[in-house]
Amino acid sequence: MNIYSRITGTGSYLPPNRLTNQDLVDQLAAKGIETSDEWIVERTGISARHFASPEVSSSDLAFEACIRALKSAGRAVSDVDLIIVATSTPDMVFPSTATILQHKLTQAALAEGAEHGAAGCPAFDVQAVCSGFIYALTVADAMVRAGSAHCALVVGAEVFSRILDFNDRTTCVLFGDGAGAVVLEATRHEGHGSGILATDIHADGKHREILCTPGTVVGGQVMGDPTLKMDGPAVFKLAVGLLDSAARAVLEKSGVSLEELDWLVPHQANIRIMQSTAKKLKLGPDRVVVTVHEHGNTSAASIPLALDHAVHNGQIQEGQIVLLEGVGGGFTWGAVLLRM
Ligand code: UT7
Repeated sequence: MNIYSRITGTGSYLPPNRLTNQDLVDQLAAKGIETSDEWIVERTGISARHFASPEVSSSDLAFEACIRALKSAGRAVSDVDLIIVATSTPDMVFPSTATILQHKLTQAALAEGAEHGAAGCPAFDVQAVCSGFIYALTVADAMVRAGSAHCALVVGAEVFSRILDFNDRTTCVLFGDGAGAVVLEATRHEGHGSGILATDIHADGKHREILCTPGTVVGGQVMGDPTLKMDGPAVFKLAVGLLDSAARAVLEKSGVSLEELDWLVPHQANIRIMQSTAKKLKLGPDRVVVTVHEHGNTSAASIPLALDHAVHNGQIQEGQIVLLEGVGGGFTWGAVLLRM
């Protein structure tokens, strides 16, 4: 008998403040910046995004997503023995958002009368920007298969609205805030027919400058520009090829054919990137989960948000084969193939 990891529950959370393209167009027009609903929809597929209010942080969004994921898995906070948060918009420089989340989950469990929460289990952040959730799931899968965790919370949570330059129309219309989480549990069985079937992650720092937030903190002051910079067309071109290679790598590693694949859940950055990737893989639009129109690009949160959306609206069913794939700053990229 071998140990494998399996997603047993999913959850997500969007802050209530929803901004349509027109809301953003009006706000930008007041500053003399010209854009339009038509341009945003046509070039990206985005119609709306959610922005967290100033007092809400990534750990707050993560907390709500985790409570929902635990409920859907039928697990309690006290069952959790590993917490990994993928984020590029952490609450603080340190401690990690994962430890802050761990404390919030524990406090909530104790307040509800539980004897203990998740205190004591390992909790750490993963920083791989929009590929963060793929990286986090890959690490969690390895820890579960090694026997060092049995019930992991793997989370993507972002407040990208905090790092946007609202004077730059080429980036500020693209991103949103949100969180998604999965419960990943150990399962023992012969062969390898369920749960996570294969993972594949990569990075190449030579592309670090085409998508970055270059500022840092020195002597208590922000040094450099702390807002997101992107060469959109260069990122677009790289993304399609890298996503295709990551998708093919996990299929090859697992021996699953493209025909057997039920769903592609890509990073939700731009509908045209998703369509190009699906076309290269010869997958029809009916096999691609799309949420970018409602969420915008939520970076590390985008894949678990889309996955949870598709599970809860009945698109993704138990037993189906699902390919998750992401690409982001660094550059980082990767894919996870799993049977739900
Ligand atoms: O999550 C990490 C991965 N990130 C991504 O995958 C993003 C990848 N890139 C993209 O999604 C696209 O490149 C963008 C959506 C960012 C841009 O779309 P594009 O089709 O590549 O447009 P472009 O940058 O080539 O710009 C076309 C035109 C330009 O005007 P000119 O030079 O042709 O006169 C831009 O100035 O569109 C203009 N433009 C805008 N116009 C109205 C750029 N942003 C806007 C805007 N509203 N918001």
